[in-house]
Amino acid sequence: MYESDAKINIPVKQIDESRQGEPFQRKEDRPFDASGLYYIESYGCQMNFSDSEIVASILSDAGMHHTTDYHAADVILINTCAIRDNAEQRVRNRLAQFQALKKEKRNLTIGVLGCMAERLKKKLLEEEKIVDVVAGPDAYRDLPKLLATADEGQKAINTLLSREETYGDISPVRLQSNGVSAFISIMRGCDNMCSFCVVPFTRGRERSRQPDSIVSEARALFEAGYREVTLLGQNVDSYLWFGGGAKKDFGKLSAEEQGRAIRFADLLALVAEVSPELRIRFSTSNPQDMTRDVIETMARYENICNYIHLPVQSGSSRMLKKMNRGYSREEYLEKIGMIRSIIPDCGISSDIIAGFCSESEEDHRLTLSIMEEVKYDMNYMFYYSERPGTLAARKYEDDVPLEVKKRRLSEIIELQQKHSLEHNRQDAGKTFKVLVEGLSKKSREELAGRNDQNKMIVFRGSLSEYPAGSYVNVKVDDCSSATLMGHIVSK
Ligand code: SAH
Ligand code: F3S
Repeated sequence: MYESDAKINIPVKQIDESRQGEPFQRKEDRPFDASGLYYIESYGCQMNFSDSEIVASILSDAGMHHTTDYHAADVILINTCAIRDNAEQRVRNRLAQFQALKKEKRNLTIGVLGCMAERLKKKLLEEEKIVDVVAGPDAYRDLPKLLATADEGQKAINTLLSREETYGDISPVRLQSNGVSAFISIMRGCDNMCSFCVVPFTRGRERSRQPDSIVSEARALFEAGYREVTLLGQNVDSYLWFGGGAKKDFGKLSAEEQGRAIRFADLLALVAEVSPELRIRFSTSNPQDMTRDVIETMARYENICNYIHLPVQSGSSRMLKKMNRGYSREEYLEKIGMIRSIIPDCGISSDIIAGFCSESEEDHRLTLSIMEEVKYDMNYMFYYSERPGTLAARKYEDDVPLEVKKRRLSEIIELQQKHSLEHNRQDAGKTFKVLVEGLSKKSREELAGRNDQNKMIVFRGSLSEYPAGSYVNVKVDDCSSATLMGHIVSK
């Protein structure tokens, strides 16, 4: 079975804000002659925000300094999302805003990272003239070299995808951190090939990160005062480590390999053992791969939060088949039943797509009815946006008119708001253990934090008495569809 390797040490790197604005000191061993201050902006999923922290680490090791003021930066990096067309549009609008800056500051280098870089590759340099550097999600170690090339006045690009890269040895620099919660990337890529999704093309093949480096990162975060980690992967349930080599299905491993393999439930337990005071969350679970032992492990450890994000996408089995999701409506509902039988108060959220190819009113009605059956605590809801190169774009017609997609989406959103409010009302009178994250957005006399089920709770209190990172018991008095309001109780 698994033995921890104490040699792996992932320290926590923090941005030294006090050094911002200082004249840049060139390091003796700097491998290139680029300018020193970089600014980075992230779009899209949590994985992208986590990747930006890896990029920050690579650049600081190369001798550069981070700035939160893009006017002061010598290098502006945008870590992009390609999941829907409007995500790409936002990035293009942002690049247009940087155009004027580039005119004023001829030496400014602009780099596009992430999924849009991977999807468009060289085309991005042609379409967006102000872009100097393009780097895909597996090419971040090459960034110092790419920036050096740009510094010499040439365009630079690396969009090679890897079957091995996990950045497992890199200690992320915690950007925009509240000092309480952090992301830990446990795997990269996705092999699922949902027909609507561009991620397998932009993030490449699925590969799992070495468990020691994950546990070590969690431990270092805990020692630095963090009290919550979210383990990230596109499909965490297929996490698999068996001592090296490319990912295989667990079923295809030899008996000896199976004996020493670490699967997701094992990994969860290892991270939970770091400290009972460290909360563990994870995202995203896939209904076709989620197993009973993951839910049982959640139930066994009090510090693994009772919350699961289990995207359904549609309530119609016909649509799910066309989406290549690998489960039917009935199988999905069985998984929900399994979760609730083991953890009755588990928070459950989902992703839903309205108006996928050939979706009928009947299919849409089935989505609304599965929402009624599950009664999600929360939902991320979208209308279908065709992505070039995906299976759906090649095989199916995007034939649901935009107004119909929008109308169906608004019905889905309306129903979810009703359910969120119902859930929150049921919480009135209950007491939750809340991890204090900081002051509430609205008032300096109120604190905000989350309960186990990932719900934000606002309550009166001061940071001097209950600092960020401490746990308090809060009794809920009132709510909106998004937030619970309560007061501190001793227990
Ligand atoms: N497994 C991933 C899913 C990434 S995409 C994760 O870790 O979250 C997030 C969500 O975006 C998907 O679950 C899906 O609901 C939505 N999505 C993906 N492709 C889409 C498309 N082409 N149009 C609309 N929504 C899409
Ligand atoms: Fe996308 Fe499906 Fe993977 S939604 S990220 S292909 S699990």
